[in-house]
Amino acid sequence: MTKIVHMSDLHIGFANFREDILLNTINKINKLNPEAVVISGDITDNGYYREFVKVKEYLDLLIPPTIVIPGNHDARNIGDEVFEEIIGDRYSTLDLEESNIKIIGLDSSEPDLDHGKIGRLQKRFLEREIKDAEDRNMFIIITVHHHIISIPNTGRERNVLSDAGDVLLLLLENNVNLVLSGHKHVPHVWKMNNTIFSTAGTVSSMKLRGNTHPSYNIIDINDDKVQITLVNNDGSTEVLTPP
Ligand SMILES: [Fe+2]
Ligand SMILES: [Fe+2]
Repeated sequence: MTKIVHMSDLHIGFANFREDILLNTINKINKLNPEAVVISGDITDNGYYREFVKVKEYLDLLIPPTIVIPGNHDARNIGDEVFEEIIGDRYSTLDLEESNIKIIGLDSSEPDLDHGKIGRLQKRFLEREIKDAEDRNMFIIITVHHHIISIPNTGRERNVLSDAGDVLLLLLENNVNLVLSGHKHVPHVWKMNNTIFSTAGTVSSMKLRGNTHPSYNIIDINDDKVQITLVNNDGSTEVLTPP
C-alpha cells in the first residue's frame, strides 16, 4: 500500500491565509510519513517574490518528497519566473521507484490570466512521460492545477483547461490512473472509464465555499485500487467516492 498526500491552494500572502493551519497540517503529514506530497498550485496569492520566499520556508519543513506545480495565482506579477527561481521547474516528474508510481506535474497557468491551458509543447512532454511510465508498467498520476472536468458547486463554469478535450482524450486513451487538481477549493472525485479525477480543497486559506473547512486529501493506493480520504481542519474525515 502506498500513501500519498494531496494538498492545494495554500494562498500564502492572502489576508485570510492561516499559518497555524498550514503548520499543523505539515506536522500531521510528517507524522503520517506518506511516500510523497503533491501540491497542486496556488501556493501564493499574488505571485509576489516575498510570498514565494515564505512558501519555500514552509515547504522545507515537509519531510517526504514533494512535487509542486503552479496555479493561476502563482503566475501573476511574473510569478511564473519567480516560481522557477525559488521552487523549481514549473512542470516535472517524480518517480516513486519503490512503489512503481510516476507522478507527472503540469503547469496549466498562463501569466496574469486565470484560465488554464496545457498547450502543444507541454502536451508532448506529457505524452513522452506517459509512454515512459507505460513502458515501465507504472501507476500514473498526473497533477494539474485547473481541473479537466467541471465539478459541482463551483458556479458558472469557466475554469476547465481551454484544451481540456485534447488532454482528456490523451489521459483516457492511455488509462492514466489518477488526476489531481485544485483551483476551485472544492474537494470532489469523478471517475471516467479507468481514470479517477480528484480535486482538493484549500489547505490553509479561508477562501471557502459555503460551510466547508480547509482540507487536504490522503490517497491510499493498493495495486490499482485507490481510496481518497478528505481530511478537514476540524479533524473530521470522509472517504470521497465517485457518484
Ligand atoms: Fe486557489
Ligand atoms: Fe486557482
